[in-house]
Order: sequence, then structure tokens, then C-alpha cells
Amino acid sequence: MAKDFSKMEDSNRSSNPSIHALLQDPGRRTVLVGLGALAGLGLAGCASTPAAAASRALGFKGVAASSADRIVVPQGYVAAVLAPWGDPVGAVGQMPAFKPDGSNSAAEQALQMGMHHDGLEFYPLDGSRRGLLAINHEYTDDGLLHPDGQKTWTPEKVKKAQAAHGIAVIEVAHGASGWQVLRPSRHARRITANTPLAIGGPAAGHRLMKTAADPAGRSALGTFSNCASSKTPWGTYLSGEENWADYFHAADVPTAHERRWGIRKSTWYRWHEHDERFDTVRHPNEPNRFGWIVELDPMDPLSTPVKRTALGRAAHEGAWVAVTQDGRAVVYSGEDARFEYIYRFVSRDRIAPGGNGKTAAQANAELLDHGTLYVARFDADGQGRWLPLNHGVGPLTAANGFADAGEVLIKARQASDLLGATRMDRPEWLAIDNATRWVYCALTNNEQRGDPGKPGPDAANPRANNTMGHIIRWREAGDFDGDSFEWNHLLLAGDPANLRPEARGSVLGDAFASPDTLAFDPRGVLWIGTDISTRSIGKHEMTRLGNNQLLACNPDTGEVRRFLVGPVGCELTGATWTPDGRTLFVNIQHPGEAPSDRNDPADPRRYSNWPDFNPIGRPRSATVVVRRVDGGVIGA
Ligand code: FEO
Ligand code: CA
Ligand code: CA
Repeated sequence: MAKDFSKMEDSNRSSNPSIHALLQDPGRRTVLVGLGALAGLGLAGCASTPAAAASRALGFKGVAASSADRIVVPQGYVAAVLAPWGDPVGAVGQMPAFKPDGSNSAAEQALQMGMHHDGLEFYPLDGSRRGLLAINHEYTDDGLLHPDGQKTWTPEKVKKAQAAHGIAVIEVAHGASGWQVLRPSRHARRITANTPLAIGGPAAGHRLMKTAADPAGRSALGTFSNCASSKTPWGTYLSGEENWADYFHAADVPTAHERRWGIRKSTWYRWHEHDERFDTVRHPNEPNRFGWIVELDPMDPLSTPVKRTALGRAAHEGAWVAVTQDGRAVVYSGEDARFEYIYRFVSRDRIAPGGNGKTAAQANAELLDHGTLYVARFDADGQGRWLPLNHGVGPLTAANGFADAGEVLIKARQASDLLGATRMDRPEWLAIDNATRWVYCALTNNEQRGDPGKPGPDAANPRANNTMGHIIRWREAGDFDGDSFEWNHLLLAGDPANLRPEARGSVLGDAFASPDTLAFDPRGVLWIGTDISTRSIGKHEMTRLGNNQLLACNPDTGEVRRFLVGPVGCELTGATWTPDGRTLFVNIQHPGEAPSDRNDPADPRRYSNWPDFNPIGRPRSATVVVRRVDGGVIGA
């Protein structure tokens, strides 16, 4: 997401108390004092076995922090650029080449890789040799997208920006010259901010979802701000709509509903100037059609993606699926905004097998439309509760502004405020360890924790001025659908050399800050991608941490080792592996991001020229493929 956190929406004015006050939690209070004794705190209760520990062992030599404008990987590894912004995805007969001056048209951009790659997942077509990659394109830097940036602003430029958002599906294969994008491919497609999507679940057809263009409230135009990703057990792709509020233009005084969702008069993207559906005065329900988890079947190029409203509306980072012992889907999600919440959905029905002419994806086409949504409360005693968002129960009544179940889902933040859920330090990616049933969540940072008028530290979010972020984890009591859970911290991120003790953290191994991406590889190693804001990189408490990076963590021991460092101004986003664990695909987002604003189109190579280093080009987000020179398992 955009790195200017000062502009980030911050709308939770609920009075949810910090019931988990740090002083009530003597065990965790020690986290903030004797830092030498920090190591291992929060690891208690980890159910590792000697066999599991051995299989997750880290076998590579960690790399040093780097500020170079290139990718750094360990000795014995190679990284190659596979699919940068602007390359054609490979739609049959429609493969416009990238123009390095940014002069591709909107129609061409809609056939090319979008900007600002984020989550991605690999779908095998032939074992670990050939498959599809589904890739999120989260947002745009319009200073790089057009030859003159936003100096002029036209309908065509808005259309191009909309075409650079969304999701791409590409086919990739490993051959004599390494991994390549196969073009053309019948699977290749783009989903943009103008592609028709279906709306599923209890909010489909709701009065708050109806617009002039869609009086039925069942078909939304497009998806954008697509952040994290995951693959479901039935073979589909889940994509979170995250910072969608930044695209809407409200009146001078936004409504209370708009304010709670961070919708303002000013917008970063200026789409409303040439596309009236982004003007909430004219189309007040249009924003309600965003903030959902989108489900896509990448294997069926003709399938219509669906917004799954039963999972709740949020500034969704993404969503991740666990399976109960009787085969129901449990979907964890969170929203990356300061002081917002973590959610869990439990499906009503069991996951169906494919067969009788249906793929598993087709057999579960409505699985995520029926179930119960919960929000998390982390208590100071290391236990937690899932609070159901059931209409008519407790405070979620018509008298409190929730006419029906659909309105509870559309106003999930307001409902969670009333339920007293825990206000977190920006939940980013989650990852589920099926071997141990711990669920991990990266809480990237929150410098406003403890500010005047803002919530103070609590047990789950224990540091005021949380510049560094932390990784929390929980394990359900009983099965994944248990009503309560135990929780602790895997680690508090930081740098032991910091002057401020609270910023030193508890990392066993290589120092890092701002965990964002979390993903388990096929061996069960937990990978951590970082997103220190560009305006902070190399400064103050981040001086020694270098560019954003990808680290590997053995969750049984807590050991963390730096694996890859990205080029200047980037963040590390999605990571996915071939089933054999011998190929890692990882996304580099926004190389060359300007520290304070979008890039200056007159000087597009000011901060980075990765990956092309073309003297007349510009930096490009890209999917990168990492292999071991000896063909071995990544990280082992
Ligand atoms: Fe799109 Fe929270 O990162
Ligand atoms: Ca992220
Ligand atoms: Ca982030």
C-alpha cells in the first residue's frame, strides 16, 4: 500500500476500551524492559516436535542488509525478473509491448501486467514445471504510469489507471532457459477496476448495494486495491480489497458511515473527476460494493469473480482458509488500518469434492456465501474470544442501525465497535500452520498507539509508538471453529542496536521491521516480507535495516534469517512456491517509490531504475523467480 502513512485512513473513534492494559499483564510487561531476556518470550506453548523442527531448519547463509538498487540473495541462489508491470499477459492475439516512456494506452494496459504487484499464488498445470500465477495489482503511481504523470488529467488516463489495477493471470513454465511467461495462453487474463464481478452472500441485492448502474445490487464493476492473496483448498484464489476508501470523493462533510470507513473529500487517485461513480454524492452506495474478499477461479478463464459478502466488509488485507476436522472452511482475515480488527468466518457447509463433471472450484461455488462471521477479542490473560456478528443478537439490532444481516456485514466495523473487539496495530497477512494449528498475523506497525486521544498499549499490541510491528499468533480451543483461543507473540520486530529500548524487539536472528507478508512454504517455514515506509527507510530507528526484505523463520525455534533484500524504494509483497519447494515466486512492489509523494514524471529514474536499468525507462514492479543454483529446495 501507499507508504505515506500520515495520509492513511484512521477512522476508529469507537470507545472500545484497552481492556487488556499492559499493567494488568505482568508476564508481558517484561517484554518492554530487560531486552536481553526478551528472546523466546512469547514462544511458550509452541508445539514443535523434533521431526518438525528438523524439517523446518534454515539451511542458507543469511544476507546482510543492503541499500543497493538490486536484489540480493544468498550465495548459491539466483533471482530473475519474470513478469514486470507493462509486459503483455499473453491474451491470444492481443499482446501489446510495454513502452518504457509510459505511453501505452488504457486499452493496451488492460492486456498487460498491472502496476504494483502484491499477493500472488501458483496453480500447477504440470507439477512444479508449469502452472498459472494469479497476481494482485494493488495500486498505481500515476507519476510513472503516464509520460507526464497527472500534469494533465483526462478520461483516458483514469481508464489507464483503472486498467493497471486488479488481478492478472499468466501461464509460466520452466524450461532450458529457466522460468518464462508462456504467451499466448488461453488462461491469460486481466481483471481490472472495470471488469464485471458478481456479488455473493447475504449482502447481495441489499438496498445499500444498489446503484443507478446496478439496481439489483448484484453485479459490481471491477475490483481494485487488491492486496494480499491466498489459495483455497478447493483451488480458487482469494484477493483482499484493501485501501478502496482512497478512491472515493465525498462531500465537504462526509456522512457518519463514510467517516467510519475513512472516505473523505480529497482523493489520492482523482478517478471521480472523469468517472462519476467514484463521487459518493452522486452514487452514495458505490463504496459499499468495495472492501470485500474477491474469489476467482484462475483455472477457468471464463469464470466471473465473486465478492464474498459473508466474509464481511473491511479494508481487507486478504483472507486465508483453514479446514475443520469435519471439512468446513474457516476463513481468517483482518484489515490493515490503525486500530481495526481481525475476523474469522466459519462456513455452514462442508467443502465438497469435485466430480460429476465439476471441478472442486465449481463444486464449492457458493461455499463462502453461507456461514457465521466473528471478530476477535484478545484478553490480557493470553486467552481470546470470537465474538459473532449475528444480526439481532446483543447490540446488533435495528435500533442500533443494523436493519438486517446484510447491513451488519456492510457495516462490519461499526458492528465490531459495538461488540468490543480488540483494536489492533494494522493486521496485514495471516498464515496458518496446519502442522501445529497456530494462526499467525503480521501487525505491521502503529506509531499512533499511545498518542493522546488514541488507545494505549494493550496485551496484544504492547508497544506505544509501535514503529517496528510484531507478529501475533493464536490457536483455537478445540477445532478451528472453537469459540475461544490462546494467543501469544511469535516476536516483536526491531533492531537490538536501537537507542530506544522499546524499538529493540525480540527477534532471534536478523533484525527487521514492519512485517507485512506472511506465507508458509511447503516445508512449513514461515516467510516474512517487510514494508518499512519509504520515508522511514535508512532513517532514525531504521538506519541499519536497509531496503525492504524477505526473511525466513523457523516457527518452532523462532529463528529468523534474512534471505532476500529488494531494490531501492520497494516493498516485498506476495510469495508462493511450486509444490516441490524448489522455485520461489516473489513480488517486488513499487521499486523507486518517492519518499513523500508520487514520482515526478520529469525524473522517473530519480530513486531507482530497477529492473530494466533502461536509460529512457522507469522502475517497474515485478514478479521475480528465485532458484537455487543446484536446483535444491529454497531455504533448506
Ligand atoms: Fe496492501 Fe496492508 O498492505
Ligand atoms: Ca501488505
Ligand atoms: Ca504494509
